[in-house]
Amino acid sequence: MSLDPQSFMATMIQRIDFSESDRSLLKANAAWGESIALAMAEVFYSYLARDAEMSAILNAKEGRMHRLNETFIEWFGEMFTGMDGWGSAYAARRWRIGLVHVQIGIGPQHVVPAMATVVNEVGKQLKSAGLDGDLRDALGRICMIDLAFIEQAYVEVSSQAVLRETGWTEGLFKRMIATGASSMK
Ligand code: HEM
Repeated sequence: MSLDPQSFMATMIQRIDFSESDRSLLKANAAWGESIALAMAEVFYSYLARDAEMSAILNAKEGRMHRLNETFIEWFGEMFTGMDGWGSAYAARRWRIGLVHVQIGIGPQHVVPAMATVVNEVGKQLKSAGLDGDLRDALGRICMIDLAFIEQAYVEVSSQAVLRETGWTEGLFKRMIATGASSMK
């Protein structure tokens, strides 16, 4: 069940149909991405701060907000540059981001609406810059790949923890999940 970030990335690229032309378009607009990154970070964190639960997480540690502002700007820029052509370094970084969120206890219920906020806000920024729909589609696809990494990290970490703790086989664990799901209302 252990995840290989690079092959997960390759699967996501194929499933989400993140094409060569998406990548070229993102690279060609990297400077524009950089120019709006700070504004994006501001919208993103003011969105998180409006939610009591997420705001408490953000303010739980000294200096967290400041660090987050910087890491968000970096993260946003990397979607445009692809780091190493959306290869193994990109995948390892996205996997790491997923693990960091799992560790802090930030769940899908937080991350999915947060990514929706990024997609909506970037759409507004594109519109006001007069940029076309292809770039919006490319950004939407890479945002979904990044989201998939964070979501998958939950599944992997939870499953690994149970298997390690109990010594169960993967087969038994999957059967128990299926039985549990069918008995849930
Ligand atoms: C679109 C979804 C999100 C993205 C792209 C994102 C991005 C990032 C990045 C790049 C990091 C740095 C990871 C590292 O240190 O290696 C990070 C850490 C963190 N994120 Fe997020 N994040 C998202 C959603 C959220 C949400 C919903 C919360 C809820 C409060 C949150 C709170 C945090 C916290 C508390 C940290 C650790 C900060 C620290 O103490 O260093 N993030 N995030």
